[in-house]
Amino acid sequence: MTQHIAPQITQIPKHIAIIMDGNGRWAKRHSLPRYLGHQYGLHPVRTTVELCAKYGVKILTLFAFSSENWLRPPKEVRQIMELFFRSLKGEIRRLQKSGVRLRIIGDRTAFSQALQERISQAEHTTEHNSTVLLQIAANYGGRWDITQAARTLAQQVQAGTLQPEAIDENTVANALAFTDCPYPDLLIRTGGEQRISNFLLWQLAYAELYFSDLLWPDFNELEFIKALEVYASRQRRFGKTGEQTATAPK
Ligand code: IPE
Ligand code: IPE
Ligand code: MG
Repeated sequence: MTQHIAPQITQIPKHIAIIMDGNGRWAKRHSLPRYLGHQYGLHPVRTTVELCAKYGVKILTLFAFSSENWLRPPKEVRQIMELFFRSLKGEIRRLQKSGVRLRIIGDRTAFSQALQERISQAEHTTEHNSTVLLQIAANYGGRWDITQAARTLAQQVQAGTLQPEAIDENTVANALAFTDCPYPDLLIRTGGEQRISNFLLWQLAYAELYFSDLLWPDFNELEFIKALEVYASRQRRFGKTGEQTATAPK
């Protein structure tokens, strides 16, 4: 597929995370109710998954609903949950066809029993797909993730299976929401805000950040390519000097 790639894109991120922000403002701009903004937001989700497959991005993590989004008006929360419930079923055929594996990250115990079952079904149906791993962060918060990891480790210490001195960064990392894939190389946030909003706090430690003024329902291939180009132009130093990084083998 390399024939599609612009010459500026010399480095493709393995893992892209996106804060899909701006649905409400998009709806307002089009004189539509907010929930239609969320509904239209499904189109760029589909497009972005296809673009990841096309450009060789193996993991895509999308922030769909934060731990704090429960604070929104109950009607909007209900509408988002309904959309989530419907799309989990509606999108399966498409995911299967393009070989996409689906995983939901976040505290799913807060969801209705029916939604939890549908999540498990969708994950089970797609578990052997390997083109792209699509992680949807739903009722996810970076603070929740680190807190639940701390609780897991505390339980292991209490049970005598873990010594406190043995806890290092790897131990913590292995108790976080996902452990079997690399952390995001690139974080994209649409909607014009430049903040993390409690997304993957631990996992974004060395991600490159790209902020787009487009509202999420308007996100498209051109903007995706722009983000890839900006990413390719960055020098990731991971604490070392620029000279060390430039001479290091790729
Ligand atoms: C992001 O869009 C979707 C969710 C947080 C569920 P918003 O609904 O936050 O859109 P704005 O920021 O109000 O425009
Ligand atoms: C972040 O967007 C969460 C998602 C996109 C799911 P918000 O709209 O909730 O973020 P804030 O409140 O503007 O920081
Ligand atoms: Mg928002």
